[in-house]
Amino acid sequence: MGPREIRPGIFWVGVNDRTTDLFEGMWPLPHGVSYNAYLVVGQRIALIDSVKDHYAEELLRNIAQVVDPARISYLVVNHMEPDHSGALPLLRRVAPSAEILATPAALPMLARFYGFTTGVRAVADGETLDLGGKILSFHHIPFVHWPETMATYEGTQRVLFPCDAFGGFRALDGALFADEVDFALYEGEVLRYFSNIVGMQSQAVLRAIEKLKALAIEVIAPSHGLIWRKAPERLVELYARWARNEGEPGVALVFGSMYGETRKMAEAVARGVREGGLPVRVLDAGRVHVSFLIQEAWRCRGLILGSPTYDTGIFPPVEHFLRLLERKRLRNRVVGIFGSYGWRGGARAKLEERVRELGWELVGSVEFAGAPTAEELRQGQELGRAVAERLRTLAGVGSRA
Ligand SMILES: Cc1cc2nc3c(=O)[nH]c(=O)nc-3n(C[C@H](O)[C@H](O)[C@H](O)COP(=O)(O)O)c2cc1C
Ligand SMILES: [Fe+2]
Ligand SMILES: [Fe+2]
Repeated sequence: MGPREIRPGIFWVGVNDRTTDLFEGMWPLPHGVSYNAYLVVGQRIALIDSVKDHYAEELLRNIAQVVDPARISYLVVNHMEPDHSGALPLLRRVAPSAEILATPAALPMLARFYGFTTGVRAVADGETLDLGGKILSFHHIPFVHWPETMATYEGTQRVLFPCDAFGGFRALDGALFADEVDFALYEGEVLRYFSNIVGMQSQAVLRAIEKLKALAIEVIAPSHGLIWRKAPERLVELYARWARNEGEPGVALVFGSMYGETRKMAEAVARGVREGGLPVRVLDAGRVHVSFLIQEAWRCRGLILGSPTYDTGIFPPVEHFLRLLERKRLRNRVVGIFGSYGWRGGARAKLEERVRELGWELVGSVEFAGAPTAEELRQGQELGRAVAERLRTLAGVGSRA
């Protein structure tokens, strides 16, 4: 995709990345990701954010279709993560007189990552910059998701550039705006991005949302994914709900199984959830990448964990998933537990311990030796139903019985 004017004098000049397999070295990108950079053209020109180093030349070609890159006066660095700052060395060479603008916290990072110590200026929170016909202001939003992060706002067109906030995985398939596509197709990847990359900093996200409410925003132009020019408050509300860790009434059932005994029980538990009147997504932790498990755990308030006993403890793929949820600080979950063991068990006790440590609500647990009996399957089904009933009560949708 070449550049596109998103508002008078404001151009998307970003790139689609369809070749990086693992974002941040660990999150798969089956649908790619975009790095959105924006040119704000007044009498003076600012570039807001850039792209990963590998795509720097493509960014430059996009810019050159709009203006001579040497004319750029300001390189605005909202965020230092290299998916947005990686093109700075090339940009410096083609626009040597451009001043880099970033938060005070970004300055030592610019020096350590790129050796930039001159031509760099810290902007104060709330500071404005008149480009002549366009006016930028800078709003520090620390820890969304790094400490040096800020959002930039263009006042004449009322466009917010919040960098990672409100962004998502999935490259832009020929369309830039959320209203040009079926957003349902993108939402999962926005949530996967939020939960995996930003989720741990949910409190900072909520603080940022509160702070940015003071601005009159007509367009939200993040640095990954779709741009919102119609009802951007819908996206803000979605993000706020995720950041509050609310969770929809529904269940993510995540299990692991070596020989199928725990899996048999997973089917019965899932049946019980459905009988309890709620949707359930069944995910095999050994097969589905953990980033998708985190996404679904973030979406649903109900979380049911199935794990056989393995070396006296939790099956490693399930344990890894739980560790990451702990690191991401997911709160407020309603939980059920089940699993098969061979001789003495142990997974259940360890799972219960973890659930207590995480402050989640445990509805019940079922552990069984070897293959589940008909009676044990019935107990599993009952567990699924009990979790669903509890979620319905919490959501205020009443009992089904
Ligand atoms: C590598 C390995 C380690 C195991 N460790 C334990 C254990 O420490 N305690 C136990 O009771 N069973 C242990 N088991 C037995 C399994 O928990 C048992 O086979 C269970 O039924 C497996 O459930 P699944 O078919 O869902 O994988 C182990 C099995 C394997 C293959
Ligand atoms: Fe980032
Ligand atoms: Fe990013």
